[in-house]
Amino acid sequence: MLCIILVIAISGTTRSGTAAEQTAGVDSKVYPNAVVAADHPLASAAGIAILKAGGNVVDAAVATSFALSVLRPASCGLGGGGFMVIWDAEQQKSMVIDYRERAPAAATPDMYSRLPGTDAQRQLASRQGPLAVAVPCNVAGLCYAVKEYGKLDLKTVMQPAILMARRGVPINDHMRSVQKSMLARMKQGKLDQKEFQPLIDEYLNHGKPWEEKARFFSPQLKVLELIAENGRAGFYEGPVADAIVATCGKQGGGILTLQDLKDTEPIIRKPLTTSFDGYQILTMPPPSSGGIAIIESFNMIDALEKQVLKHPFADLKFHSPQELHYLTEVMKHAFADRAEYLGDADFVPVPLERLTDPKYASRLAARIDAKQTKKLKDYGRYIPPKDSGTSHLSVMDAAGNAVACTETINLTFGSYVVIPKYGIVMNNEMDDFAAIPGKPNAFGLLQSKANEIEPGKKPLSSMSPTIAVKDGKAVFSAGASGGPRIISSTLQVMLNMIIFGMEPEQAVESPRIHHQWVPEDLLLEQVLYKQAGEQLKQFGHTIKKSSSLAATQAVSRQSDGLRGHSDTRKHGAAAGY
Ligand code: DON
Repeated sequence: MLCIILVIAISGTTRSGTAAEQTAGVDSKVYPNAVVAADHPLASAAGIAILKAGGNVVDAAVATSFALSVLRPASCGLGGGGFMVIWDAEQQKSMVIDYRERAPAAATPDMYSRLPGTDAQRQLASRQGPLAVAVPCNVAGLCYAVKEYGKLDLKTVMQPAILMARRGVPINDHMRSVQKSMLARMKQGKLDQKEFQPLIDEYLNHGKPWEEKARFFSPQLKVLELIAENGRAGFYEGPVADAIVATCGKQGGGILTLQDLKDTEPIIRKPLTTSFDGYQILTMPPPSSGGIAIIESFNMIDALEKQVLKHPFADLKFHSPQELHYLTEVMKHAFADRAEYLGDADFVPVPLERLTDPKYASRLAARIDAKQTKKLKDYGRYIPPKDSGTSHLSVMDAAGNAVACTETINLTFGSYVVIPKYGIVMNNEMDDFAAIPGKPNAFGLLQSKANEIEPGKKPLSSMSPTIAVKDGKAVFSAGASGGPRIISSTLQVMLNMIIFGMEPEQAVESPRIHHQWVPEDLLLEQVLYKQAGEQLKQFGHTIKKSSSLAATQAVSRQSDGLRGHSDTRKHGAAAGY
């Protein structure tokens, strides 16, 4: 019976094109029971199939995640890591599973800066190839989630992903555009054909554009089956672990060891919380920087309402230059503190309480000038630097349980390292550290000593899965992919739903802005650039047009039912029942 539900929901059997394919994009519906919003329609469908088969929101999130490793191999998957925020409405309990990758035991702060070669070559080493790989924790996190918080067994929960790998999946527009840009990189010599042959063969159709009706067969079928059969041992021990170490260990030019893999465990944490506009916000603590930045931002907006504006923030016209200016100033303060103070709190002291204290936010808000942006040093507690591929899914059910889960292998196709025989795409999360002190990372983020490399430490992340709870039940859940833009887009989507009263579709599709303090650019999506760009210059901002700022997935629960929306910026679609 279960198998029949899964087959019908995931692949369809009698029609050309799958069931979920045909409903893709139709996600402004209201569902009575549950909703999943992932950045691929078939991944959302996988979560719903598992809920229909008797699973809970955690089972659904894990099924969706494993499906994403097949469907979005450039963004996330077995070779990466992630964060899962859970609200259990029955037990009135929240928890966080931190399955972010760690630096291997042999990593050192100067492992990139002491390499021979040019600056550019050193910088590349934390982004491409085996040395860029941090110890993957995705599989350990997902197995733990099902065992501790799920209702079904791992094998059942993994069935949708295994079916998709076995039967192949249609290639959608997002996969085509990723392939196009990767092939362009290959032509420009930025993706070494010889070194990354397995990536080109297994994921880029041997370097040839996909044909019109082509299907993608994930090379990870075998490893998915091994995990379904043996749990985490199917990945961290035995032939898969040996293959990972042969490629990313000493022999392959990296530093990963069997012991690193064996020692990999997720960490259970308490979410960060604040109250905002009558909601309890639950978000991600360190090693994410996103939760702190989002709480700091909510607190600043609250303080602006009370002290400066003397009226609700929402009374500023939505997307008016004045509203966008305030939002930008809030982001600049939050990102300045990110740069200075944040790292893995298990390794360095992070002034968490002070940064999330509403009194601190009040002091920052009081420094915001309504008419003019300021100099870099005026943001956060700025101290001059000493020298100094992601996927989000949201799940919610009618009882008010929710999961917000963001996973990543960092940049598109991570380190470009693909494990032969098993097709695992390895992350390049080492670049999320301040890999070369004083130099910005791939996202242009300047970071301090708090985020320098240490053995076993987790690189600071921007992933910000966030849930808003009212009267003991989850009402909104959101998160994003897109590096530091995750923080600003999650904040805006949450504000859109909480204070501007939007449904997920409008909240997600509305154009967005982004400012990360350094560089001093205010990025505006096309519509806002046209609409408010000239006026924002009057506030002193340097404005830049941006084609697409992050991809967000959001869900909501209102009195008439559940809604979800997956960002069309990444061709996703929600599903529900
Ligand atoms: O954890 C982080 O902050 C990054 N590894 C996220 C990377 C990302 O979102 C890539 N997406 N475009």
